[in-house]
Amino acid sequence: MNISTKMQNAINGQVQYELASAYIYLAMSPTAKRRLAWMCHWLRLQWQEEVGHAMRLLNYVLRRGGRVTLEEIGKPPANSLRF
Ligand SMILES: [Fe+2]
Repeated sequence: MNISTKMQNAINGQVQYELASAYIYLAMSPTAKRRLAWMCHWLRLQWQEEVGHAMRLLNYVLRRGGRVTLEEIGKPPANSLRF
């Protein structure tokens, strides 16, 4: 049974959130690398985790015969991490 358009669109929206979250974690990691190597490592693990969530959702839509639509991801905040 194919995925409904409503579900497909909702999951595509969630993929966008997952990738935007990943982008923010990645944006914070260079600042952390300068001060706290362990935090940089943790932030990059979170980046991987969020990308993994996006890929699982994306693959689910494809498996169910749906269409994946990726939207633009905005620039992360300039000072995502300050300390
Ligand atoms: Fe997530």
